[in-house]
Amino acid sequence: MKLIIKTTILISLYFLTSCNKKEAYQPVQGQWIKGTEKEKLNTIETQFRGFDKAMVEVGYRYQELYWAGQDENWEYANYQLQKINKAIKLGLQRRPRRAASAENFLTYVIPEVKKSIQQKDAKLFNENFKMMRTNCTACHAAEKVPSFTVRIPTDRQSPIEKE
Ligand code: HEC
Repeated sequence: MKLIIKTTILISLYFLTSCNKKEAYQPVQGQWIKGTEKEKLNTIETQFRGFDKAMVEVGYRYQELYWAGQDENWEYANYQLQKINKAIKLGLQRRPRRAASAENFLTYVIPEVKKSIQQKDAKLFNENFKMMRTNCTACHAAEKVPSFTVRIPTDRQSPIEKE
């Protein structure tokens, strides 16, 4: 009899703890990011978007960089160049298949523009900016969006201007 009671207690203990364990693994649900762990990761990744999001940012910063250079506002120019670098690298983390096309841009184009900013040389900056523009378009051709021709900005929309 004693043995039966002992076994019953042990079995119920087992089920109780296994039940608790199961509960601990219930995935936490957000307000709108819901589902299994995998489904939630998919939602988050989709919301982060792909390379397009990086490019919208780069397009804006490219213009800011240009006007910063025209103003010889080197601190702001340097800031924008760093953010272009970062936006492309983060974009590549999301879309690693585009990395080969970006390599020259990251290892040559950006460092060259950086040099002209460090030297505070407006003439060199404009030369390197043109070189950058050509490389933006070259990558678009390599990545099968050849109609995305990048031009030198003409109309200033920048909210930042050197006094
Ligand atoms: C790695 C190669 C690569 C480089 C370097 C690159 N681009 Fe792009 N760009 C792309 C691709 C690919 C797309 C299309 C993205 C898509 O279809 O998701 C794009 C799209 C764009 C768009 C359209 C974004 C939109 O959705 O509205 C702009 C603007 C743009 N690029 C500007 C630039 C500028 C300016 C530079 C240089 C400073 C540059 N790109 C450098 C690959 C590149």
